[in-house]
Amino acid sequence: MRKPLIAGNWKLHNTVEESCQLAQALVTDLNDVTETEIVIAPVFTSLSDVGKICAGTTVQLAAQNCHCMDDGAYTGEVSVPLLANVGCSHIIVGHSERRQYFGETDHFINVKARAIIKHGLTAIICVGETLEQRESGELFEVIATQVRGALEEISPEQMSQVVLAYEPVWAIGTGKTASSEEAEEVHAYIRGLLHGSYGAEIAAQCRILYGGSVKPGNISELMAEDDIDGALVGGASLKADDFAAIVRYKKTLKMAAT
Ligand code: PGA
Repeated sequence: MRKPLIAGNWKLHNTVEESCQLAQALVTDLNDVTETEIVIAPVFTSLSDVGKICAGTTVQLAAQNCHCMDDGAYTGEVSVPLLANVGCSHIIVGHSERRQYFGETDHFINVKARAIIKHGLTAIICVGETLEQRESGELFEVIATQVRGALEEISPEQMSQVVLAYEPVWAIGTGKTASSEEAEEVHAYIRGLLHGSYGAEIAAQCRILYGGSVKPGNISELMAEDDIDGALVGGASLKADDFAAIVRYKKTLKMAAT
């Protein structure tokens, strides 16, 4: 059984004070949740303070990015050990905004994921196609390249420290969610790729999150799909009530097609 995971990606929002207020509200509101893992990813400058608020609670801390080297002359970068030092248990890598605006390649994402795993943290690795790629029939090829590239040299044993997130670029921040069927089609495909590379057991254990305009109103439908194990939430994670409602989504069974 895969434990659902709901992660909030706060992106470039919130001062330290605002981050702490939001984190405090979530920690208080979600203190009884044990059936779903909860992760929040504030900006770097808020991590240390938010880490203190999350310590010993049901809410875990993630960074939105990291560098692959532990230390050295890498101006402007933040390493995995330093992120662990302020309480991060998870790090998001390969977000489409990093691929698009900062030129991150599958190889670079893979090197970072391996650094995260080496230090005992969990890598939340994002993949997803653009609208253009989907419309030109490249969807599965793009996803396969990104998944295989990100997982290069990651061993079967290390896969327990990997969470994948499928985020169609055209659904991020646009209000356009992939339908639950569209999302499930890709999630099932990704699980098939994992099966091919790592075998049935690891494919069945690895969590695959969906991301792209997830809201309280669409989470239950998404979570009813067999291969959707949680969500990476952007916009709606900035409001405590919305994020808490997503974490507390109602479990519904998928309606059988008639
Ligand atoms: P969104 O962002 O929920 O605002 O669409 C999701 C993400 O980019 O992780």
